[in-house]
Amino acid sequence: MFFDEMPVAPADAILGLTAAFKADPRATKANLGVGVFMDETGRTPILDVVKRAERMLLDEETSKTYLPIAGLPEFGEAVRRFVLGDAFCDDGAHGLATAQSLGGTGALQLGAQLLRRFRPGATVWLPTPTWGNHRAIFSGAGLAVRDYPYYATDLRRVDPEALAEALATIPAGDVVLLHACCHNPTGADLDAAIWARVAATAAQAGWLPFFDFAYQGFGDGAEADRAGLLSVLRAVPEALVASSFSKNMGLYSERVGALTLVAGSAAAAEAGLSQLRRVVREIASNAQRHGGSIALKVLADPVLRADWLRELEAMRTRIVSSRAALVDGLRARVPDHDFSYLLRQKGMFSYCGLNDAQVAWLREQKAVYMVKGGRINVAGLLPGQLPYVCDSIAAALAQ
Ligand SMILES: Cc1ncc(COP(=O)(O)O)c(C=O)c1O
Repeated sequence: MFFDEMPVAPADAILGLTAAFKADPRATKANLGVGVFMDETGRTPILDVVKRAERMLLDEETSKTYLPIAGLPEFGEAVRRFVLGDAFCDDGAHGLATAQSLGGTGALQLGAQLLRRFRPGATVWLPTPTWGNHRAIFSGAGLAVRDYPYYATDLRRVDPEALAEALATIPAGDVVLLHACCHNPTGADLDAAIWARVAATAAQAGWLPFFDFAYQGFGDGAEADRAGLLSVLRAVPEALVASSFSKNMGLYSERVGALTLVAGSAAAAEAGLSQLRRVVREIASNAQRHGGSIALKVLADPVLRADWLRELEAMRTRIVSSRAALVDGLRARVPDHDFSYLLRQKGMFSYCGLNDAQVAWLREQKAVYMVKGGRINVAGLLPGQLPYVCDSIAAALAQ
């Protein structure tokens, strides 16, 4: 028999946490484990510009016929201009091509399939720690996966020496996954000086950078967040960039993302795109219309675009102020503890500094849920919950 020989797969660690939170009968509880942006009322809203774009599409669309395999060329162009910036796209030296994908996950998957076909012997190097799905995606595509040191727990930040040393020894032809900004799960990003070292190392060692850019706009701002990525792209001939509108346009369930190839020349980009089309054809046959049309409308309509950038900035500001309020609350309760590392972190996620035993204690004793390793979503922290969460973390630190 086929199915009855299958073991039951373990539940997804983060989704499982939310299920446990929902089932928790305690009246006072907080879920800091979720992976979505929440406003101050705990909602993950549909952006106003998305609603407006959808209304326009409702009136304008005349057919649901199939799109081109890799999505509309206008979508690819608009997305990569947002992701890489006009200056990089216009200098004409890089050979760019973009395919629409099923979210950032789909973009990583497209890249993984391309690597499996054209560089099957390559090892994909992942930072420690990283988003759990990275390993599953690349090893699921049959690629060897190894780790490089990223976050130094004792320093509560990236150790630039350890990082540079590790990246320098990765062989030419291998692939290095880099979080472009808002590192998930730690929130620990690279500063300009470390990015410059990464860029120089990539150029010298000859490995292929594969960027995961899932949180553009949530760190220092939509333009500032691409600075590190660009410093690497200017130093190397080739790279892959997986991007997503799940977070910055709030299109989570619409599954809109893109894989951009930085191929070195127009001819190589066209060849790369032709191969990507074969991959998409096998996985999904062709691009998904609704989500892609929303993103394109918002990017291409100047009024919608300006309003979107304001809404995106408001989400970023909420994250920054939630982080600051958490630090104030913790400092008031545990004055001798240094929480400055929390303020240095970027994006929704933070390694809050608790160990796994303290994380388990918080969940059991206080009904405060966070991901193993101490990852919290600062955008999931609601103002009304803040005093309770700070009291609870302070109590956990005293354990
Ligand atoms: C680092 C990272 N990459 C990629 C993704 C994929 O996002 P999506 O497929 O929802 O666009 C996520 C989502 O949580 C993420 O945290």
